[in-house]
Amino acid sequence: MSFFMDLIILMYGLTASFFTSFVRWLIPVDHKSVSGEVCLITGAGNGIGRLMAIEFAKRRAKVVLWDFDKEGLKETSAMIRELGMDVYTEVCDVSKKDVIKAAAAKVKQEFGEVNILVNNAGIYTSKMLLDLTEHEIENTYKVNVLAHIWIIREFLPSMMERNHGHIVNVASTVGLFASPGMPDYCSSKHAAVGLHNSLFLDLQNAEKYGVKTTLVCPYLIHTGMFNGVHVKYDWILPPIKPQDCADIIINAVLTEQNMVAIPGTMYIAHILSTILPTRALIAGYKFVGADKAISYFKPNRPYQYSNMDPSSGY
Ligand SMILES: NC(=O)c1ccc[n+]([C@@H]2O[C@H](COP(=O)([O-])OP(=O)(O)OC[C@H]3O[C@@H](n4cnc5c(N)ncnc54)[C@H](O)[C@@H]3O)[C@@H](O)[C@H]2O)c1
Repeated sequence: MSFFMDLIILMYGLTASFFTSFVRWLIPVDHKSVSGEVCLITGAGNGIGRLMAIEFAKRRAKVVLWDFDKEGLKETSAMIRELGMDVYTEVCDVSKKDVIKAAAAKVKQEFGEVNILVNNAGIYTSKMLLDLTEHEIENTYKVNVLAHIWIIREFLPSMMERNHGHIVNVASTVGLFASPGMPDYCSSKHAAVGLHNSLFLDLQNAEKYGVKTTLVCPYLIHTGMFNGVHVKYDWILPPIKPQDCADIIINAVLTEQNMVAIPGTMYIAHILSTILPTRALIAGYKFVGADKAISYFKPNRPYQYSNMDPSSGY
């Protein structure tokens, strides 16, 4: 008997969910206000981290910016001050747990609590598995996924206590399906996706519906992180303009979407990657040139030149 009750509950849940999604698609949801909310963004010294910081500041959030690129942080904060908004910055290497803890303590002292956390800092080194040094592999994991864990652990307890907050985890489409030539990056992004999904379910189980989550999975963005990388037919899969990407992420956060793949065609790519026979998948990769895309990479970030020597600071 209880099986049939459970089945009815499931049917109700499915119908309600599809109906709500359909209505949301027909009638765009209002954007929530982030005015006065403390918003911490990691990796805000460059790329989409900077653009997201500007967008949150425009909406009158109190932005707190972390990055280990001091000059990049200075530039971002100057842009935000030009908007007439205050900004708090901290040079923080998120690959280091103790540094994160110290920086988080400072933020709590200064602002009380963080309401919106954007785990955005990420690194990419273009090497095959056997060419990567042990330090490079560990560092990719430290920045791309372990930092998410340590930072979430700093701010989640208060969000749960208040049943209020929003955690945004920037992963990648290569966290949903694989791409050649990036074993450490790709696997770290898969871990970030798993972390996000698991956190979301735990918050649902704990009935902390006021703590929202957004997983961000972009395809190639023109920020320079993947400098030179391109597929054979760029017109089929053009790189995303950084501002477009930031706008889509902000929209997803303000409408409280749990996940956003950018562009939308990546949802189809994700589904195809799980159902296509292996040979068909390989043929698809070859057709668009995804098999060779990474071979055009030209290093463009300090940590990509330094060969990840631990003494270099990276
Ligand atoms: N660029 C792309 O094509 C692309 C595609 C999918 C996902 N992403 C992801 O989007 C996020 C932002 O990427 P982006 O394109 O803006 O790259 P970016 O290189 O322009 O910016 C990344 C920022 O993270 C900072 N950072 C790196 N290591 C750090 C550390 N140890 N401590 C503190 N800050 C650190 C860098 O200084 C930089 O400011 C990353 O997580 C990236 O993996 C990027």
